[in-house]
Amino acid sequence: MSTIENTNLDTNQDRRGFRPRRLAHANLWVRDVEETNNFYRNVLGLAEVYRRPRIEGIFLSNGNTYHDIAIVDTDGPAGHGRPPGLNHLAFELENEVDLVAGYEVECERGTTFTETASHDVAHSVYLSDPDGNGVEIYADVKSDWRELRSGVITNTEPDWKPGSTPPSQVSCYPQNPEIREIAEAVFHPLRTASATIVCNDYEDMCRFYTEHIGLSCSIGGPNSPYAVFVGSLNRPCLVLVPAVLGRPAGLHHVSFEVSENPYDAIRRLEERDIELVAYLEDSQRRCVFVKDPSGLLLRFQQQELKPRESIGPTEFEFLLV
Ligand SMILES: [Fe+2]
Repeated sequence: MSTIENTNLDTNQDRRGFRPRRLAHANLWVRDVEETNNFYRNVLGLAEVYRRPRIEGIFLSNGNTYHDIAIVDTDGPAGHGRPPGLNHLAFELENEVDLVAGYEVECERGTTFTETASHDVAHSVYLSDPDGNGVEIYADVKSDWRELRSGVITNTEPDWKPGSTPPSQVSCYPQNPEIREIAEAVFHPLRTASATIVCNDYEDMCRFYTEHIGLSCSIGGPNSPYAVFVGSLNRPCLVLVPAVLGRPAGLHHVSFEVSENPYDAIRRLEERDIELVAYLEDSQRRCVFVKDPSGLLLRFQQQELKPRESIGPTEFEFLLV
């Protein structure tokens, strides 16, 4: 693992939101965190890295980030008996200078932040999108997260506000991370790729993720039936669709990029008597949908050979159910 100096820093004058690199993790409310942990290990293929008993939360990774998925129990002290669903999506920045600069610009624009936090390996700010979905924007501040995150973590985190400590220009996210595969799992994800959200206020949501979070809309947009957003890595990381035709607002699914042929994964699902919710194939991609024990939809897509140009009619039809 190495760190690099980012020599291409933006000035506040031309800043538009935060300009994340990518979606780094989804934090999900789940009904039974231990059952879900087993499912996510044996089916999804992500291993527990650490847990926080204080919130009944478990954090899983394959090496891409210090957690690629977090699961928090709906019946735990943080869950208050809420239904399963999205807690927050976390977008990764280039470095802490970008975090502080984006935070200051957004504060000047009147954006309200719900929390700012030091997670020792990363510094984060939290806010809500126009539909009330949680959003975390963070920058890694330590590159050796595996040495700092393992087992049971009980510490309370210190108060931290952007700029209260000198922000680092070093890019500390994992460079060429070692991907630890769980051989016996159904899927072998390369990364948490994207999330699809059904929006009550579709136009405002498109505007928020463009103008405040700083993603770029690569396909569709507020005047189309869907909008696909990319970060600075130019990979799809967020898909928004409007809540029409009875489609309920909220998280539709989280998507993972996998290296394998989907037919192999489908065979393993059958062997383990796990329901295949859907298999979609078109000229651009092949993907498999399954549900976790709380009923949250997960999508596994074979690594794309060419950039996505649209959401195909088959997949769009599936988004309507
Ligand atoms: Fe998070």
